[in-house]
Amino acid sequence: MKFFTTPYHFNLLKDNERLTAFNEAINDYYKRHINYSNCDKGTEKLEKTAFDIGCGTGVLSFFASKYFRNIIAIDIDYKIIDCARKSFENIENSDNINFHFSNVLDSNFQEKADLIICEMLDTGLVDEEEVPVLNYLQKYLKKNGEIIPKGIINIAEPIFMERNNIHYDDDFNNQNYEILGNYVKYSEFDFSNLIDIKFNTMIEFEISVDSKVNGIKITTFTKLNQDIICGPTSMMNPPLLIPVEEKNVKKGEKIKIFLEYIMGGGLKTIKTSIID
Ligand SMILES: C[S@@+](CC[C@H](N)C(=O)[O-])C[C@H]1O[C@@H](n2cnc3c(N)ncnc32)[C@H](O)[C@@H]1O
Repeated sequence: MKFFTTPYHFNLLKDNERLTAFNEAINDYYKRHINYSNCDKGTEKLEKTAFDIGCGTGVLSFFASKYFRNIIAIDIDYKIIDCARKSFENIENSDNINFHFSNVLDSNFQEKADLIICEMLDTGLVDEEEVPVLNYLQKYLKKNGEIIPKGIINIAEPIFMERNNIHYDDDFNNQNYEILGNYVKYSEFDFSNLIDIKFNTMIEFEISVDSKVNGIKITTFTKLNQDIICGPTSMMNPPLLIPVEEKNVKKGEKIKIFLEYIMGGGLKTIKTSIID
């Protein structure tokens, strides 16, 4: 299939690892739910509704379109909704997808979803609206409904970093930081629960080398479903490097770092401090 797209969404389309992970999870949903009594015999589509929230080009709707009788696809970016409508104009068997240009947080739905697909992920869930959006959509998910992705796991590592501003580690040819100790899993979220967007935690690290610590690296793993976990890809959750005040540290020493942010509030909401 050929997609019309914007430069940003084109890069998302090129990220095979990301697309494969979502495709596998959608296939798995279908395999677990098809029992041939609950589907349209002609098409073998489930008599079910899927939402594709933040649908972009509609690529995830495309994966789901062979399995669902009805797909509601929404994006806040009118350019990409125009592109998506154009891409699907002449595609056979895609009249089960309805594209809407809208902010999902202002949207009212006439029906509830059996499956919500929502790829508004970013590292730590800080900068994108995945959490506020899924909190809002709770009332539109059927009992026993599912969400792809199912949740995320966050880990952190103490580092010495060259730059002293918050930035993503997306320059794969040039690692401009050194890892100074063990990683710590500092949070895990299941999107089927309501999640408090105000997040804070104290993370204790054990230092493995005499050095100076001046930052933490956050890495997010996406749980697509019970069985599929996807690490950072080129366009999904590149590790995030966050400065902390500089401190001399010795091998074997334990240090505590307080981390807080608002999920969906943006990188400007991140605050850190070293606790003595
Ligand atoms: C990471 S992109 C994913 C696009 C597409 N689902 C894919 O997998 O290629 C996230 C999309 O969410 C959309 N988005 C962000 N906030 C939104 C909101 N409040 N309501 C609807 N769409 C939103 C963006 O415009 C963007 O297209």
